[in-house]
Amino acid sequence: MEAVTDIVFRHVIAKAARPDIFFTEFTNTASYFSDKGRHSTAGRLAFSPDEQPIIAQIWGTVPEHFAFMSQELAKLGFAGIDINMGCPAKDVVKTGGGSGLIKTPKLAAEIIQAAKVGGIPVSVKTRLGDVRVDEWPSWIGHLLKQGIDNLTIHLRTRKEMSAVPAHYELIDDILKLRDEIAPDTLITINGDIRDRQHATALAAKHNVDGIMIGRGIFTNPYAFSEESEPRSRKELLDLLRLHLDLFDKYAAETPRPYDPLKRFFKIYVRDFNGAAEMRDALMHTTTTDEARAIIDDVDDAVRPL
Ligand SMILES: Cc1cc2nc3c(=O)[nH]c(=O)nc-3n(C[C@H](O)[C@H](O)[C@H](O)COP(=O)(O)O)c2cc1C
Repeated sequence: MEAVTDIVFRHVIAKAARPDIFFTEFTNTASYFSDKGRHSTAGRLAFSPDEQPIIAQIWGTVPEHFAFMSQELAKLGFAGIDINMGCPAKDVVKTGGGSGLIKTPKLAAEIIQAAKVGGIPVSVKTRLGDVRVDEWPSWIGHLLKQGIDNLTIHLRTRKEMSAVPAHYELIDDILKLRDEIAPDTLITINGDIRDRQHATALAAKHNVDGIMIGRGIFTNPYAFSEESEPRSRKELLDLLRLHLDLFDKYAAETPRPYDPLKRFFKIYVRDFNGAAEMRDALMHTTTTDEARAIIDDVDDAVRPL
């Protein structure tokens, strides 16, 4: 997820409860194609060996850029490439990229073939269609004909954004189409899946190959855990401490300003007495040390736990 799943946050999640596969934030292939852009996008692709298997998500509109980048990603050691054909953000769609590719299926197919040049597995992440839900058999069928290793489907159209419930009612029909067209392509389902328990229940009902969880981690950093019991304040604050430490540790690989870090605080500081006040104090900090001092104060004030 853009500005979320960087090397820092992925390590926090790995410590809390690790998913089977990690995906990077998406990186623009056109930027990466230019020397200057490659340098400025490098932080998005930073990862460490303990994160394997890790997939690089990329987006763009020019097959040549995908061919180039796929070879570089293979050299960097990524376990696979995921092509974003689902992002509904206006600035992405107006370039023809992300979910804009749903309207240019021929180009989408050329991009997939180009991404195979690097020789590592190729996956596509997309939506059901552009405007109407009933576009899915044609669009999904088209993608299944491209010989991809995995297809992740966010069960909404571009137009639906995230404003309606995900269309779980289509999962079995999608799997049937996959079995007919491309039995070797894995199907991963995405949309509104809260945590591992929810994922396991869905997987038991429908024979999907994978489940992707996105926003679930915003309300529960332990979303990938096998256990579902509530976490203590201490556990959550320790994760926040870890997040601050890793923000400093990876500052060279992923240089990021301090302010955007604040959007993560509500993930950890919730559901305990005084959480709102603590969040408010944290929002006024300007350094990781100031944030650590607030956590220490709260811990001191309420000990023993
Ligand atoms: C802040 C944010 C950033 C996102 N960035 C990406 C992205 O870079 N690539 C991508 O494929 N999807 C991205 N998404 C979409 C999610 O991956 C996911 O498809 C969507 O939120 C629905 O699944 P969920 O209900 O599990 O979150 C993003 C979503 C959010 C909320």
